[in-house]
Amino acid sequence: MEEKAIEILEKFNQKHIVDWMNRLNDEEKNKLVEQVVKLNIEQVVDLYNNLSKTFEIGNKKIEKISAIDIDKLSEEEFNNYKNQGINIIKSKKYAVVTMAGGQGTRLGHNGPKGTFKVNLNNGEKYLFQIIVESLQEANRKYGIVIPWYIMTSEENNDQTLDFLKEHGYFGYPQGKVKLFKQGKAPLISTEGKLLIGKDKLIKEASDGNGSIYKSLKDDGILEDMKNNGIQWVFVGGVDNILLKIVDPLLVGVTLNEGNKIASKSVIKTNPREKAGVFCKIDGKPGIIEYSELPEEMIEEVDQDGELVFGDVNILSHLYNIEALEKMSDTVMPYHIAVKKSDYLDENGKLVVPEDKNVYKFESFIFDAFSNYDNISILRVKRENEFAPIKNAQGNDSPETAVELYNARLEK
Ligand code: UTP
Repeated sequence: MEEKAIEILEKFNQKHIVDWMNRLNDEEKNKLVEQVVKLNIEQVVDLYNNLSKTFEIGNKKIEKISAIDIDKLSEEEFNNYKNQGINIIKSKKYAVVTMAGGQGTRLGHNGPKGTFKVNLNNGEKYLFQIIVESLQEANRKYGIVIPWYIMTSEENNDQTLDFLKEHGYFGYPQGKVKLFKQGKAPLISTEGKLLIGKDKLIKEASDGNGSIYKSLKDDGILEDMKNNGIQWVFVGGVDNILLKIVDPLLVGVTLNEGNKIASKSVIKTNPREKAGVFCKIDGKPGIIEYSELPEEMIEEVDQDGELVFGDVNILSHLYNIEALEKMSDTVMPYHIAVKKSDYLDENGKLVVPEDKNVYKFESFIFDAFSNYDNISILRVKRENEFAPIKNAQGNDSPETAVELYNARLEK
């Protein structure tokens, strides 16, 4: 196996890793060899050599996509959709996935984001605890126990598991909670070299929340869902403390529109809000990041004076199990992020760079929406469903999120 590893490394211009390998003791060397053989080094090096192969809006056609405004539903429609959704939930066909594999670099909390605590008017709560409370409320209402799946990453899986155990899963039936690990990809330096981390292995990192589809399949979660008769799966982030994870209305709207995928949006607070918005990309549903939206589209309004690209993605997605199955075989495009990453130099000395030094390849969950021609988008009220914790201070920080949560409690 060692020869094979050396061959791969030499082929892809990573001779420094071979030199490094020769400095290691047998046990360390074996681990590294095993890693090299398993890794898709060809893919990262190819992405590095062809950065343009990563996702780019380029000449793609961006068009408006329509959304259903919750406020514009008649009472009859509202009740009808909601009841359809309730039927699905009550018949135990609904599951929830929380994506918690991110690094939460902007927040800077020491530990997985779900272990971050906020001080709310109804008590101090961890982000995971808030999710459990929403699940339990739905369980009480509908007389069921919703299966809860948590996507973690190599970096934070053990800490997440320990935390949940330590807190007795906040009272959630343990048999209904399953953790699964998302995918990862090697980091590559801006000079095209793989790096060695403190564990003396090639540095890898989570490869974005788009790896959820493949991981659901590879980790046996899709199979588990099917065995349990699950038909609709809600997927949300870990850091929106007003996220409505069990909403029969969303299920009903999707069923009624005959779609396999759905998502929720809120209207931009102002055209320049730094948020991804729903649109059609080359005729298929998608989300365009604020940095990629062409300038002339940012403030564009329709005949009613509404922003044409104003439906913000709040990471609140719903899938039919068929859609998840289809997407688990989709090759997700990678986006590039340039990040700072420490590493061991050729002498084993830790280097902490002052500037960004690596490319990180990440796939985004919403890029798989293009598997379908249509998606149901339910536009909801921001103050009811969106209080994200992204930054340590300022916008979308614990302070702003807590304020929004408390205001919602008053209602
Ligand atoms: P963000 O893109 O906001 O990333 O993730 P983050 O890790 O929370 O924070 P930063 O960007 O490092 O500051 C949105 C959601 O997707 C999950 C996150 O846990 C969060 O719920 N996510 C993100 C993953 O599960 N895996 C990833 O690789 C990235």
